[in-house]
Amino acid sequence: MKPPSDPQKTNPNKPCPERSRMGQFQIQRLSKLFLAFTFLCPGYNLAMQTWTIQKLLNWVTEYLTGKGIDSPRLSAELLLSHVLALKRIDLYTQFDKPVAKQQLDILHDLVKRAGEQEPIPYLVGKTEFYSLELNVTPDCMIPRPETELLVERAIEFLRNRPDRNSTMGNTLQKESISNGARPGTQFVCDLCTGCGCIAVAIAKNYPDARIIATDICDAALAVAAGNVEKHQLKDRITLLCGDLFDPIVPQLDVDKLVPDSARGFDLIVCNPPYVSTAEYENLDKNVKDYEPKVALFAGVDGLDIYRRVIEKADQFLKPDAALMLEIGYAQGPAVRELLEQTGAFPEIKIEKDLHNNDRIAIAKKQKRLDMER
Ligand SMILES: C[S@@+](CC[C@H](N)C(=O)[O-])C[C@H]1O[C@@H](n2cnc3c(N)ncnc32)[C@H](O)[C@@H]1O
Repeated sequence: MKPPSDPQKTNPNKPCPERSRMGQFQIQRLSKLFLAFTFLCPGYNLAMQTWTIQKLLNWVTEYLTGKGIDSPRLSAELLLSHVLALKRIDLYTQFDKPVAKQQLDILHDLVKRAGEQEPIPYLVGKTEFYSLELNVTPDCMIPRPETELLVERAIEFLRNRPDRNSTMGNTLQKESISNGARPGTQFVCDLCTGCGCIAVAIAKNYPDARIIATDICDAALAVAAGNVEKHQLKDRITLLCGDLFDPIVPQLDVDKLVPDSARGFDLIVCNPPYVSTAEYENLDKNVKDYEPKVALFAGVDGLDIYRRVIEKADQFLKPDAALMLEIGYAQGPAVRELLEQTGAFPEIKIEKDLHNNDRIAIAKKQKRLDMER
């Protein structure tokens, strides 16, 4: 039997399916290159192209994919919705809308920076945490979804304290007392608050929480102040600048704020810096080059801040209160040991996250005897 003849050899004019596919592929590649070129050279671009939202979304997604950026489509949507001041959903309802030159220029700059690994939340000035929109700047760390577990446990703890629930339901007791706090109010301390994400999320979801939040970095606290204001929590969150507990002198702030015979906080939460020297060197570029070192690095073994918080926490907690710490993926045993060494926490739990990494340490103090009765 004769082998099938090569159509290109027998009839050079007959189109070869393989070749035409190749041709199409080349044309597509050339058109993408052209788009890339025109987008990256805005002057030329604007004369030659009408960029619709759809075209931009597709192109930016592809550009960020090529640069190895995480979640490229979402990133493209966030950048575009920021530049166009549209909700993400509206990008899809206005797919064919042409984008103006001025906005293209802004987008062009942001996309290039995103391609160089600059985090999207810094580029757009905001992020979402615990379903809340929060402002962020390079002065504060970008809140991570993993930290939502700490918020979840904190809210559960506050809601489930039996003695508090009984007073919270009693409207007669809800009249204000000298410092403006109501009976049933629970006092929370958020150390290392950064942009205030933990404090804001707790306050938003537990209306009877009064919170003191501290951070060593003034600029980060300015961002936190913006978030407190944005969520109308100024009357319930007090921001103080300083080293861990230093700005909270028990005889001053806590006594003024906590009208309870057992002075102290009901709950201390803290997501401190916890990256070790070795880990710091190996951080991804988008973290190491952009997020503040003071928010990440905590000494040779990454435990410096835990040691200092755990050593002092007991004196700032009521007898039946708790300390909750976010911890690094393998820091559970070391943090547990630090907590045990204090002898102040009979109940210690290390909880893992969805990825099976150590994520939070929960340490509860002795229950009050009158509560047992
Ligand atoms: C890991 S970030 C956490 C920020 C925020 N709580 C969150 O969960 O996204 C740690 C924060 O601790 C602050 N910090 C570092 N050392 C501190 C110290 N000695 N005292 C108070 N805050 C400190 C940093 O400025 C940074 O805002």
